[in-house]
Amino acid sequence: MLEGLMAEIGRIVILTGAGISAESGIDTFRSAGGLWEQHRVEDVATPEGFARNPNLVLNFYDMRRAALANVAPNPAHSALARLEREFSGELLLVTQNVDDLHERGGSARVLHMHGELKSALCTACEMRSPWHTTMIDRPPCPVCRAPTLRPDVVWFGEMPYEMGRIYRALETCDLFVSIGTSGAVYPAAGFVQEARANGARTLELNLEPSEGSRCFHETRHGPASVLVPQWVEEVLDA
Ligand code: OAD
Repeated sequence: MLEGLMAEIGRIVILTGAGISAESGIDTFRSAGGLWEQHRVEDVATPEGFARNPNLVLNFYDMRRAALANVAPNPAHSALARLEREFSGELLLVTQNVDDLHERGGSARVLHMHGELKSALCTACEMRSPWHTTMIDRPPCPVCRAPTLRPDVVWFGEMPYEMGRIYRALETCDLFVSIGTSGAVYPAAGFVQEARANGARTLELNLEPSEGSRCFHETRHGPASVLVPQWVEEVLDA
């Protein structure tokens, strides 16, 4: 379907989810044995959960941050970095992931709409600071010195980052590609309809049909480490 169209593609928006990092060894959320089977969303991914038991929440994200040291980007991350370097049009890479594997795979411009494990948000001064260690020990905010840091991760009930910029890009893109996401969480799950309504072609690359598969013009099923390099090759060869 996309062959022949690629030559006309000047603006691409890519959305990635946990599936792109699965082959690097990071658990997805909704698979069997995934993160949301091991932990209650209400406990570790809501402001109310944090208010109820901050130590549980700080420890959960401290562990996830520390676990990043044991994983590495896979060929899907590297392929998107190659696309960023070699594609002559405009590219916006939006990820729901809080890991840093896109950056470590070589992508220089990544929009983390759900925040980042390696960032801290101060609940006192609201500044975001790069963060690489733990928070359970209540370290001071690098900006205001108050011991009021929380993970800079967007929890349920909170507004994702940079929605204005993302919707502007969805209005004008020629192609929207969704990679490794179940399509279960809004607003990201609605990006495909937004892009389609504005005339973009839409492509899903996922291990299996997602909840929103039927909304896409084309879906390809398989592991991201195979599908993404293949697709990038097609775009760059067009
Ligand atoms: P999910 O765990 O909901 O979905 C991951 C998707 O990746 C599933 O559809 C899998 O089939 C697919 N998948 C698994 N392995 C794959 C592979 N090797 N190659 C390609 N696809 C693969 O994760 P997300 O959709 O990212 O939000 O979840 C969205 C949001 O829900 C997350 O950002 C997080 C979570 O609650 C917050 O915490 C705010």
